[in-house]
Amino acid sequence: MAEVIIVADAAAAGALVADEIVRLIRSRPDTVLGLATGSTPLPVYEALRPRLAGVDVSRVRGFALDEYVGIDPAHPESYRAVIGREVVEPLRLDPDRIRTPDGSLDGIEHAGDDYEAAITAAGGVDLQILGIGTDGHIGFNEPGSSFASLTRVKTLTAQTRQDNARFFDAIDDVPMHCITQGLGTILRARHLVLLAFGAGKAEALAGALEGPVSAALPGSAIQLHPHVTVVADEAAAAEL
Ligand code: GLP
Repeated sequence: MAEVIIVADAAAAGALVADEIVRLIRSRPDTVLGLATGSTPLPVYEALRPRLAGVDVSRVRGFALDEYVGIDPAHPESYRAVIGREVVEPLRLDPDRIRTPDGSLDGIEHAGDDYEAAITAAGGVDLQILGIGTDGHIGFNEPGSSFASLTRVKTLTAQTRQDNARFFDAIDDVPMHCITQGLGTILRARHLVLLAFGAGKAEALAGALEGPVSAALPGSAIQLHPHVTVVADEAAAAEL
């Protein structure tokens, strides 16, 4: 059963999760963080800035959930660039210890296996930050994704491309494919922290937490995990 914490706003959620991450890093300097992109985790990264100022982060590792396929890594909306800008630089993490799945077309056939091997070699993810898509996706595991899936290439749904079009000049610029950690990969992390803010996430969050465990709503996979913390504002928690 997940622990559900309802907070006043996203900033309060950010502070709460950041405090937990700082505790973790202080007790375990080689902590492995699972990093999410999208707008949801940004308050966590913001709250971490002042909190990590005096903390040794030189051994912290991080693995992003997903990446677009075929996007130039230097494109400002590649998840590699986003993680660099929002996480690595402001938190002074070692860029060599932070990975995103390789979405370049060169070697895409083994990029998933390579990523899985890197996560395993790092000892697995200690704390995985998650957002949830309006259709219930986590990472880029769209409805229909297998609960056993590992990092692999997927096709983005029209809904997700539309949701993410705000980050690009035009919807046609949103890549068609992504490489994402699978639900099986995510379930191996030792602690899942799912954040959700705003009324637009209420249905997906209720389905993930209280609906049937079903591939139709990938977020429901978290019901299979023994250590889940959900942090939501009242609007996102309205249907629980
Ligand atoms: C994106 C990301 C997910 C994220 C979700 C929600 O497509 N791949 O990791 O959780 O959509 O995005 P947002 O947090 O901006 O609502």
